[in-house]
Order: sequence, then structure tokens, then C-alpha cells
Amino acid sequence: MRILTGIQASGKPHLGNILGAIIPAVELSKQLGNDSFLFIADLHTLTSLKEGESIRNNTFSIAAAWLAFGFDTEKNYFYRQSKLAPYHTELMWYLNCFTPFPMLANAHSFKDKAEKLSDVNAGLFTYPVLQAADILLYDAQIIPVGKDQRQHIEMTRDIANSVNKKYNKDIFVLPEARINEEVMTIPGIDGVKMSKSLNNYIDVFLPEKDLLKQIKKIVTDTTALEDPKDPENDITFRLYQLMASKSEIAEMRAQYLAGGYGYGHAKQALFDLMLQYFKEAREKFDYYLAHPEIIEEKLQIGEKKVKPIAEATIARIRAEFKF
Ligand code: ADP
Ligand code: TRP
Repeated sequence: MRILTGIQASGKPHLGNILGAIIPAVELSKQLGNDSFLFIADLHTLTSLKEGESIRNNTFSIAAAWLAFGFDTEKNYFYRQSKLAPYHTELMWYLNCFTPFPMLANAHSFKDKAEKLSDVNAGLFTYPVLQAADILLYDAQIIPVGKDQRQHIEMTRDIANSVNKKYNKDIFVLPEARINEEVMTIPGIDGVKMSKSLNNYIDVFLPEKDLLKQIKKIVTDTTALEDPKDPENDITFRLYQLMASKSEIAEMRAQYLAGGYGYGHAKQALFDLMLQYFKEAREKFDYYLAHPEIIEEKLQIGEKKVKPIAEATIARIRAEFKF
């Protein structure tokens, strides 16, 4: 089974990316035979970030995160989208010509971004078509992503289907989203979906002191220390639940319901749990960031390895156009 997923280089990877995308993708790739394409979507990043230095730093942080969570770059494929830009953008053009305008105009994520951002560029509008090209270029079957990406994968299927129908052959593989329902949309410190762009994220790789500071900023209600609290509606509890064992969760739930247990206690417990849960990953992340040349080498090897696959797909579609 061929798995593919990408992460934009728009910031450092946060808890939402890690639990929603990175860990599930690495696990899945191990389970399904190590034929996975994990890449950094740095072309997509340009829709929101134009500073090369930042794109580069974020790219290395994200690559370090994939490696820190155990992605096997020798068995799989690991690359920067920009290094294969000729293939991704050429395929995107072909797919553009099979994409109905209203499909893009009605996309949730475009409407969301158009409302929030001051720079509503055409790249944001055609973002899903570049994403479709990323997926179809490598004949990917399974796309592990967060819930927010479901629509983009459906659009990819629709576009691929139109091409296949038009030429009456299976030019493209129809991909399927693999969404970790348990993780769903991880809340940020303000309770809204955790996102780089909303500045509400928790950075798992911060030094301990700064990590604790971030956790302390999680928004809570004003229930007094001695009063019982509602765990299900509390952000700290919801985050704790994503990493804790069943018995740890049951214990914290009981403490919330009993009263006499403050949000400060819960935040400290979340902090301790995160240090333990991410101990190995934090060490590895620091190691790779201190050795960018190792990251660069792994990426370059991956970029060489994917190139013939991209070329074959481009040749297949060009043949239909007699180009
Ligand atoms: P961001 O929203 O921070 O810019 P990206 O859009 O780059 O993050 O997301 C990269 C991957 O991480 C995607 O698969 C996305 O679905 C997943 N992801 C991002 N934020 C969350 C979240 N809060 N909960 C679950 N998954 C998330
Ligand atoms: N749009 C995805 C996100 O923001 C990133 C992405 C780009 C992607 N290309 C992809 C994800 C292809 C899966 C497959 O999360």
C-alpha cells in the first residue's frame, strides 16, 4: 500500500501536526510495508509565507520532526516538494484544466483563509489542485491527514476521476483519506483547532521551562479550586487524553469531578506527561537540528529516488495530450 502525506513549511511542527499527522503516518508506513512518501510541502507554503530564510528553517524543523518520530528514510521516500517543482507544477496545470471553478470557490479551507488572511492570492485558490498533483504524481493510495484535509482528498479523487473518465483508462490511482478519528481536530491553547497560523499551538520541542510556560497559557474557565470541574469541556483534559493511558485518563477525570483539583494541577500533569511521552523524540529532534547536513543528505537521497516515479506519471499524462 502506498502512503503519501505532506506538511507545509509554514512554522515549526506543533502538537496538532505531530499527533494528527506525523505519528499516525510513521506508524502506518511501518504497518503497510514501508512504501511511503512523506514530504515537505514548501511550494504550498508560499501561499502564506514569502521569506526564504523562514521557509528553509521551517523545512529543517519539519524534516527533523519526521526523523525524530522514527521515519525510515531508507525504506521510504522523503523529499522537498520544491526540489521536484517541475513535475508538481506541470501536473498541476493539467489538473487545473479538469477542475471545475465552483469546486475551488466552495472549498472550506479556501473560504476560511479568504476570510482570515489579508493576502488572498491565487495560490490559495488553486492550493487544492497542487495538493492533488502531489498525490496523483506518485500513485498514492492512502493519505493520512487531519480531519481538516478531508475535503482536499475528496477533490483529488474527483479530479482524478474526471481525467480517468475522459480518457477511459486508469491514468491516476484514486486516493483515500485515512483520518485518525480519535485524534480528530486537536484544540490549541484557546480551544480552537491548533494551528501555526493562529498562534495557539504547543511546541513539543521547546526547552522544558518554555514548554511549561506555553502549557500554563491554556485557557480555562473560572471554576474555583475546590469546586468540581467538567473534564470534557476543558482544553487541558482534552489534550491530556490524547497521550495518557486509560488509567491515567480515568484518574484525572475522577479528580476533576471530585473538586479540590485545580487547573494548575492538571496543567502540571500534562507537562509531566508530555516530557515523558516525547522524551526520545525531543532528544532526536535536537540532534538532527544540530546536524542539518544529515537532514540535507537524507532529503537529497529521497529527491533522487522519487524523480523517476514523477517522470513516469508526467509521461503517462502527456501521452494523452500528444505533447
Ligand atoms: P497548520 O494548521 O498548523 O498550518 P498544516 O496545515 O501544515 O498545519 O497541517 C499539517 C498536517 O497536520 C495536516 O495533516 C493536518 O491535518 C494536521 N493537523 C494540523 N493541525 C492539526 C490539529 N489541530 N489537529 C489534528 N491534526 C492537525
Ligand atoms: N494541505 C496539507 C496541509 O496543510 C499539506 C499537503 C500538501 C498535503 N500536499 C499534500 C497533505 C498532499 C497530504 C497530501 O495539511
